[in-house]
Amino acid sequence: MSLSIIVLAAGKGSRMNSSIPKVFHEVGNKEMISHVHEIALSMNPKILTTVISDEFKNFIYNIKNKKIKLVTQHNRNGTAHAVKTALKKNNSSNIKNTLILYGDTPLIQKKTIENAIKYFIKNSLDLCVLAMKPKSSDHAYGRLFFQNKSLVKIIEKAEMTKTQSENDLNICNSGMMIFNTKKLLKYINKVGNLNKKKEFYLTDLVSIFYKYGLKAGYYLCDYEECKGVNNMQELSRANKIFQNRKRNFFLNKGIFMEDPSTVFFSADTRIEKNVKIQPNVYFGVGVIVKENVLIKSFTHLENTIVNRNVMIGPFSRIRDNVEIGSNVKIGNFVEIKKSDIKSGVKVSHLSYIGDALIGKETNIGAGSITCNFDGKNKNKTTIGANCLVGSNTSLIAPLEIKKNSVIGAGTIVNKDIKENSLIYRKSELVRKEKKK
Ligand code: UD1
Ligand code: CA
Repeated sequence: MSLSIIVLAAGKGSRMNSSIPKVFHEVGNKEMISHVHEIALSMNPKILTTVISDEFKNFIYNIKNKKIKLVTQHNRNGTAHAVKTALKKNNSSNIKNTLILYGDTPLIQKKTIENAIKYFIKNSLDLCVLAMKPKSSDHAYGRLFFQNKSLVKIIEKAEMTKTQSENDLNICNSGMMIFNTKKLLKYINKVGNLNKKKEFYLTDLVSIFYKYGLKAGYYLCDYEECKGVNNMQELSRANKIFQNRKRNFFLNKGIFMEDPSTVFFSADTRIEKNVKIQPNVYFGVGVIVKENVLIKSFTHLENTIVNRNVMIGPFSRIRDNVEIGSNVKIGNFVEIKKSDIKSGVKVSHLSYIGDALIGKETNIGAGSITCNFDGKNKNKTTIGANCLVGSNTSLIAPLEIKKNSVIGAGTIVNKDIKENSLIYRKSELVRKEKKK
């Protein structure tokens, strides 16, 4: 089936109270608009158009896929006006159907859209509303109204009379709709703006289609998938739903979590089999965890690859482009930044390793610090394989310690060290009798 998709994203988002345009706020550390684009692209549309506003200039670099055509809606005059703006630019008249998605409705699933499209085709509809049934009537969605079981109109909450709200079935508009493109193009011009907001409502097309004898229907979707985000409360709720989905996804994949409700994932988190995650662990963006890894409580990971048979934490922070080799142990209160930790390494307690390469099987003692910043630049520390770095050591970068070397506890190392060296600073322990 040939499909054109229009993503509406130009809305003011004024209820967010934020200087960031609404659809660039994140769910699972990924912008809402990217969630919607990912689903849209997976539907393999002929054309994918996104309606944005002028305020997006500083943000559109985040929209990278060349297949996404951006159209600017200079005056935001409502959802129908936004669709019209897209239709004027996207040459879609020969594409059979048009799917409208919202940039602020990031939880929708591909399967649901596919089922709605199937329903639309099977029933030869001209318009299909992706509808939902909120659990209570306390919401601001547009509601669907019926006569003899036919869908006749959608009324926005703000426009509803008291009698209408009493007769309400509480079947609501998710905003997402499927249209026969030709009919959409023909009838969208009939939408007016005689309403409280003086906006052109896309929802008015339902009554217009009814009036002209076209076939409008609805497909009932899961409420959680259709929840729109208009304010920070709704954004945090969307994040909660997203986290629950991810937790279930990983539990089903065989990841063990004692208390999943305390583990947070990003949209791009990848975890392989036989991984155990203790309570209170945070996966920021860009984390890949390979098989057979134990992540202990209060660990924070970001932009990190963890290879097989690794133990991390509790209380470890690993970030900014780190690769942890297989059979490594990273212990409590260890921070690792922008470093390559080769296999078999142990950094067991209270260390900071930044801008470093630590060779195979090397052991970093408690409280060892790479002094990577000289006030201006970040400098690199390289430690070869099979070294033993004693406790409480300051490694002043740039620095290279070659393989098989031993650094005595408490040493300040500020010169490169040849291989097979034993290094320590000679300062005598002085003992005197205390004066009474
Ligand atoms: C809209 C629907 C409502 C539905 C609800 C679901 C209309 C008139 N109302 O209301 O029936 O229950 O969504 O969440 O359609 N947008 C533009 N340009 C504009 C205005 C909006 O691109 O001029 C975009 C927004 O960025 C957003 C979407 O359209 O992604 C919906 O706009 P919003 O103002 O949030 O509509 P709601 O009041 O939530
Ligand atoms: Ca909305």
